[in-house]
Amino acid sequence: MIALLEKSKVLGEVKVSGSKNAFFPAVGAGIALGAEKIVIKNTPKIKDVFVMLELLKELGCEYKIQSSEVIINAEKIKLNDVSPENFGKIRGSVVIFGSLLGRFENAKIPMPGGCKIGKRPIDQHIKAANSLGYKVEEKEEYVKAYGTPKKEGKIKFDIKTVTGTENAILMSINSKVEIENVAIEPEVQELINYLKKYGVDIRLENKEDKILIDGTKRKKIKEAEFELIPDRIEAGTWLILAAATEGKLKIKNVIAEHIKAVIDVLKECGAKIKIYENKIEVEGSEKYKSVDLLIADSYPAFPTDLQPQICVMLLKAEGKSRIKDNIFPERVSHIWELKKMGADISLENGEIIINPSKIYGAEIEAKDLRSTAALVIAGLVAEKNQTILKNFELIERGYENFVKKLKNVNAKIEVFEDEIRKEEIIKGISNYVPYST
Ligand code: EPU
Repeated sequence: MIALLEKSKVLGEVKVSGSKNAFFPAVGAGIALGAEKIVIKNTPKIKDVFVMLELLKELGCEYKIQSSEVIINAEKIKLNDVSPENFGKIRGSVVIFGSLLGRFENAKIPMPGGCKIGKRPIDQHIKAANSLGYKVEEKEEYVKAYGTPKKEGKIKFDIKTVTGTENAILMSINSKVEIENVAIEPEVQELINYLKKYGVDIRLENKEDKILIDGTKRKKIKEAEFELIPDRIEAGTWLILAAATEGKLKIKNVIAEHIKAVIDVLKECGAKIKIYENKIEVEGSEKYKSVDLLIADSYPAFPTDLQPQICVMLLKAEGKSRIKDNIFPERVSHIWELKKMGADISLENGEIIINPSKIYGAEIEAKDLRSTAALVIAGLVAEKNQTILKNFELIERGYENFVKKLKNVNAKIEVFEDEIRKEEIIKGISNYVPYST
């Protein structure tokens, strides 16, 4: 799919959809709790969600979608082998590991996938299962865990991992476990809330570095119902997009606290931001202050999932900015594409260096979900020519109705289904001159 983008100033209102990364632990909670019916409200209709639903089907579940509600019938869920191809399409699939251990004390999974943004091992997920007393069989193509988990145990992570923490919680659901060095992203905290709702004694402790879980006294349930929180990365993308295009947006259905680090950076740079209950208003400006060193790290720090997007905005800053992504240092594919548009951006000693630059329409290519969002912003900021963004379909993995939402706020974007039409598209643009450095 190709997106054709042109300089635009966004103006209007946009409503954020339910959180992609909260969907996986919601499914996981339902399975681990032993529910036969799992209802998930406010579910975004995005590709990663549909892949997860396909995987559930492979495990013997059925599902239906009613408006933004997904209803999963997990009565007949079994320990079937799932297809490595589907499992490898997304990262969120990895929570199936903890979910099945929680439900059956037995699980076998192929290797999870997700965006190609650097190494994404699952050693910490395996460490959690080992610590809990499961026998773990690790092969190149799959990981299998089985046996009886300890009634009381301790899991200590070497690094903070989001889905690793989710898996540790899910596999501990019938035991009393202390989990140390946990990730506390809002999606993890939501999983804690999901389980609390159904009688699991679970809480964050020790300045939020530790999770204590005791599921030994919980009651069996037949039905579980969860409502997904708003997607904080979608909300942050709109904030940055509005600021970068010098636009003005009302962003509805957002929990400001979840993107506090993003709001703080944008305010420091000079964007005007007003926070209301459930809504944020943002107004961009022509020039921004640079940031000396922005570090993307575990929550509550600035999220790695917005690092590519903020790079584009910082091209408009008056001085040099530096960004260090401590979570995915190899999440840099957008740099090479922005360079094709004339950006003075580089990678030096593991830091992204961004110098003030005007960017111009060019033919560029997205490589992963968040870089697609960043390059859309670039196409809306670029001077002179239109931008042709290839692999645009990646956006559908994580942003619901993105094109419709963009058009609603005056963004100039057209989407074409296939590569073959590219020549026609270019011909159709009378003033199209690809930018060359
Ligand atoms: N890591 C290990 N070993 C492990 C697990 C993680 O070394 O066993 C490393 C990773 O390589 C990475 C760091 O630890 O360097 C943190 O990774 P984490 O496990 O926290 O990431 P994740 O759980 O695989 C989730 C989100 C990502 C998001 C990251 C970081 C889901 C489904 N995915 O991934 O979302 O970037 O946390 O916040 O929840 C996205 O939405 O575009 C996306 C990539």
